[in-house]
Amino acid sequence: MKIKPILLLSSMLALFLFYGCKEKTTIGLLMDNYEVERWQRDKDLFVARINELGGEVMVEVANSNPRLQFEQAQKLLDQGIDALVIIPVDLNDAAKIVALAHKYKVRVLSYDRLIRNCRLDLYISFDNVEVGALQADYLTKVCPRGNYALIGGAVTDNNSFMLKIGQMNILQPLVERGDIRIVFDQFADSWAEEEGYRLMKKCLEQNRTVDAVIAANDNLATGVTKALKEMNLDGKVYLAGQDADLLACQRIVSGFQTMTVYKPIEAIATKAADFAMQMASGEKFDKLNLSVNNGKHMVPAVLLPAMAVNKETIKLTVVADGYLKENKIYK
Ligand code: GAL
Repeated sequence: MKIKPILLLSSMLALFLFYGCKEKTTIGLLMDNYEVERWQRDKDLFVARINELGGEVMVEVANSNPRLQFEQAQKLLDQGIDALVIIPVDLNDAAKIVALAHKYKVRVLSYDRLIRNCRLDLYISFDNVEVGALQADYLTKVCPRGNYALIGGAVTDNNSFMLKIGQMNILQPLVERGDIRIVFDQFADSWAEEEGYRLMKKCLEQNRTVDAVIAANDNLATGVTKALKEMNLDGKVYLAGQDADLLACQRIVSGFQTMTVYKPIEAIATKAADFAMQMASGEKFDKLNLSVNNGKHMVPAVLLPAMAVNKETIKLTVVADGYLKENKIYK
């Protein structure tokens, strides 16, 4: 039987397209949401680095819904991704995604937030215990005595508990000495600004004097300042946050927030992209000298350093790094 040239040509083209596409390494990236400023930046830098390395990224955003995140993982795995990077919505639920990926022989990198109780392949984050310690250390230097409120991060995020450990490492000896009193201590349901507002309002209803507040991140701190403002307390209470969000940096220079913790996002995004490409190629990734217990096994890990930022150091850190523009902070 003679094959028509047009048929031959189109099947050759189909084969070329199939293998041509397949040759490009594809990384799946599962985002939680874009509620906090940094995540858009994480995504953009991650995608840019993967592209630079010759790969491509398929991105899905779960809008804070763990079930949706699972479905998105299933979809990406069915589409043939070579490695999976997850910012988990829920520290426990995401273990199912890791198990699913492994059925497809796809390795998983937990980005910024640790996924618990699973055979996770790699974890990249900042040293979150250190972030908590930086917050508490700074505030207790400027406010060594008084009533402290702890507005914790989302209960669905392992980082919230790491931060708390770091904060308590600094605070506990001062509590025992009787210098400070922790008058409020609650985790949030989510990282939403409204949660910061709700918890701070609750704290103020229970306590007449609060001298210092440690909010787990700047988004919660935004809610905290709203609750403080309603009681004419904004600018009168020491306040720590995390992320170097634009709003927080503006508050720092105008005296409505004491400090934040700056985490260079480019470092984590680039490192994660490099590792994701290594994982996708099936090779062993660079030897790591750190591992973190996720309840199931010791996960190879990279923990990057973060730094405290205040009014005096904002230009030398956040601005000098090109993270935020000076004219936007000092508007
Ligand atoms: C944490 C992260 C913080 C903050 C928060 C809310 O896991 O470490 O930087 O952005 O999520 O998204």
